[in-house]
Amino acid sequence: MSLDDLYRRVIMDHYQKPRNRGTIEEGAVTVDLNNPTCGDRISVQMRIQDDKIEEAKFLGEGCSISLASASMMTEAVKGLSVDKALHLVDLFSKMMLGEDVDTEEFPLEDIEALQGVANFPARIKCATLAWKALEKGARDTSH
Ligand code: FES
Repeated sequence: MSLDDLYRRVIMDHYQKPRNRGTIEEGAVTVDLNNPTCGDRISVQMRIQDDKIEEAKFLGEGCSISLASASMMTEAVKGLSVDKALHLVDLFSKMMLGEDVDTEEFPLEDIEALQGVANFPARIKCATLAWKALEKGARDTSH
């Protein structure tokens, strides 16, 4: 199996069996964002306590890239400090710009499967949507 095929499988797995899809019952910050290029929207919820992301969930409509990315993002940031989560957002944005990043830094190696998106500029906003929502919620909460 080629690396592309493997990555495609990982993305489809997250799309078809999304992790952390749903809502948080209590004490969550909610950020709704839409992708202006297609109108798809995503709602990310996070519960932050003592500067730590205790829980992260999402709901939304979108393409396989956007929903797989939301699934991976929520899985990766659970249990991290806000600062560490913001660092991952930065790392992910750099990866989407095609920069060389140390993918070992991602706590969830599936995220690496999205690096090919950098070659398709029209899809970068799909992949970054959930990450931008997390960033907004985390920044609003911690300052
Ligand atoms: Fe709308 Fe990807 S096409 S989020």
